[in-house]
Amino acid sequence: MDLGLRGKTAIVTGGGSNIGRAIALTLAHEGANVIIAELDEKQGQVVTQEIATRDGNAICTKTDVTSLQSVTAMFEKAVSTFGQVHILVNVVGGDKPQYFLETDPQFWDWVINLNYRSDLNTLKTVLPHMVENGYGRIVNIASDAGRMGEPREAVYAGCKAGVIALSKAIAREVGRNNITVNAICPGVTIPQEDAEIGALSTWSKSEVTVAYRDPEVQQKVARNLPLRRLTKAQDIANAVAFMVSDAAGYITGQTLSVSGGYTMM
Ligand SMILES: NC(=O)c1ccc[n+]([C@@H]2O[C@H](COP(=O)([O-])OP(=O)(O)OC[C@H]3O[C@@H](n4cnc5c(N)ncnc54)[C@H](O)[C@@H]3O)[C@@H](O)[C@H]2O)c1
Repeated sequence: MDLGLRGKTAIVTGGGSNIGRAIALTLAHEGANVIIAELDEKQGQVVTQEIATRDGNAICTKTDVTSLQSVTAMFEKAVSTFGQVHILVNVVGGDKPQYFLETDPQFWDWVINLNYRSDLNTLKTVLPHMVENGYGRIVNIASDAGRMGEPREAVYAGCKAGVIALSKAIAREVGRNNITVNAICPGVTIPQEDAEIGALSTWSKSEVTVAYRDPEVQQKVARNLPLRRLTKAQDIANAVAFMVSDAAGYITGQTLSVSGGYTMM
């Protein structure tokens, strides 16, 4: 199926590592111009180079998605470089798993800014342009934690539930402008190579997530999934590529779990 992405322009936040990286590579492979909006400029440039060596077209813009000002500057660069922006994929997010009673308001602010406020910033910035052009495809990366709750991820789960509801509410507001908004919930998606992540990736930092990179731990998790394997970043990228294509132009306000059957809702 031709996804019709050739010549379209896509902003991918967090496009330097893991899931965001796979999405950036896939959309570029399908012919889209990609703006990698990354706080880790070094890692964003690595992915930009990977895309260039595969004859794709991408730029990296150092961006802090928790700052509206930084997002505005990134968007202005996207428009001045490529003209119209057709696609927005909000990928940035993360957590440091711990029991709620061990958390404090400073931690809550960090999680809320990274996982929820970030999407408000990009949506507020990009939507007027999409409304004016009468075209837009938006995917917000949420989490199954936001659908069913997850111990040790209470604040994160609340934010991701918020991302799902936000996606639906905005889908209702801008459907008349030919803009679709959907949420995708990845299963446990562990980078396989160090080259797939930068220094700011969740998988390079926290003790909990680093433990998941042990193959034995991974096998144990996989045994509990109907499809008996963990999620690959490419599984998510494939779903995103479909959702932002015109083949999915009649799908909006939906939440799709790509998690090997971990949740079935
Ligand atoms: N990996 C999983 O198992 C999993 C499961 C469910 C949901 N998710 C969600 O999928 C998304 C991607 O997860 P991942 O594991 O690929 O993430 P990751 O931590 O590996 O990568 C995140 C990327 O975002 C960048 N970044 C961090 N803060 C930023 C900021 N303020 N502004 C711009 N860029 C910033 C980092 O440099 C990094 O490249 C997140 O929203 C996460 O919550 C992931």
